[in-house]
Amino acid sequence: MKAAYIEAFASNGNIKVGQLPHPKPADGEVCIAVACAGVNPVDGKIAEGKLQSRIPHQFPLILGWEVAGTVHELGKGVTSLKVGDQVYAYCRKPILQWGSWAEFVTFPAEDVALKPKNLSMAEASGVPLAGLTAWQALFEKAHLKGGQQVLIHGGGGGVGGYGIQWAKNHRAKVITTASASKFSYVQQFHPDEIIDYHKESFVTQVRKKHPAGIDVVFDTVGGDTYRESFEVLKPGGCIVSLLEQPDAALAKKYQVRAEYHFVQPNAKELHEIARLFESGKAIPQKTHEFPLDQAAAAVEEIRKGSTTGKIVLKVSY
Ligand SMILES: NC(=O)c1ccc[n+]([C@@H]2O[C@H](COP(=O)([O-])OP(=O)(O)OC[C@H]3O[C@@H](n4cnc5c(N)ncnc54)[C@H](OP(=O)(O)O)[C@@H]3O)[C@@H](O)[C@H]2O)c1
Repeated sequence: MKAAYIEAFASNGNIKVGQLPHPKPADGEVCIAVACAGVNPVDGKIAEGKLQSRIPHQFPLILGWEVAGTVHELGKGVTSLKVGDQVYAYCRKPILQWGSWAEFVTFPAEDVALKPKNLSMAEASGVPLAGLTAWQALFEKAHLKGGQQVLIHGGGGGVGGYGIQWAKNHRAKVITTASASKFSYVQQFHPDEIIDYHKESFVTQVRKKHPAGIDVVFDTVGGDTYRESFEVLKPGGCIVSLLEQPDAALAKKYQVRAEYHFVQPNAKELHEIARLFESGKAIPQKTHEFPLDQAAAAVEEIRKGSTTGKIVLKVSY
């Protein structure tokens, strides 16, 4: 089968496209014929070797952690899905080697969900990783409640755009940060406030309107943005970061809870997310499509860190 893969770590990614063996589903797994596969910042980080200390890697390594496609073959014991089902999944495996940037990918059936019916394959392929990340960070780590105020950084990016929508559906009050050029894009997700973080410090802007502080910060940026975010929280608040381990000193100083989150596969949550799309309570992000052959260019694009919406690879449809 055709696949986009690496044979060694390299700072420029060095992503090749060629033929690798067609995978067979193990017991409890399905083999998915990939229509489209999402591109995420983590793919570039894997290609550079930045996740080596966290997850075992084996070469040749097919990149890609999310997929939309059609069930092609069932492993022994699978009853929850059938051949021909249109599905989507966040398909990170315990050993990184057989990813979704290929014509076929296998994954445990229990972590694969039916694709939202009203989304195209391209749109659906960009949902699982970013959508589950935002869902789990907001609801499982921050325990965000209706009526609470949450600051979501990077509202124009993959995770931020879904974070705004999940939080609004939860009846939270959402403040988000974005470059001014992304305001009209971000507005379609109906945040209550958008802050141009280039213009003035987001801390100053949040504190002006919310002098007592806010309940939750969802950090999708890290670094100074993470550290400064403690200053907008009220005592008892919570910050969840996707990039920084909890800073115990800052958490103590501001009397808040600090959490790190690493997204986990979860079909039940993907079902709930599909229902939001199908009932019109959420809309898909704008997708920028690259053919599988141009996987390296897609990684260069995501590396810029200024994506609006989602980048996806078109594999076969
Ligand atoms: N731990 C996990 O499980 C997990 C899961 C998913 C993602 N992540 C990480 O989370 C980060 C975001 O992922 P993503 O998929 O949303 O990336 P993305 O689609 O590339 O979006 C990043 C967004 O951040 C914005 N941004 C950059 N600097 C900013 C700043 N200082 N303040 C506010 N916004 C800023 C960019 O917009 P502007 O043009 O407006 O700057 C862009 O829209 C990545 O580093 C990724 O690796 C971690």
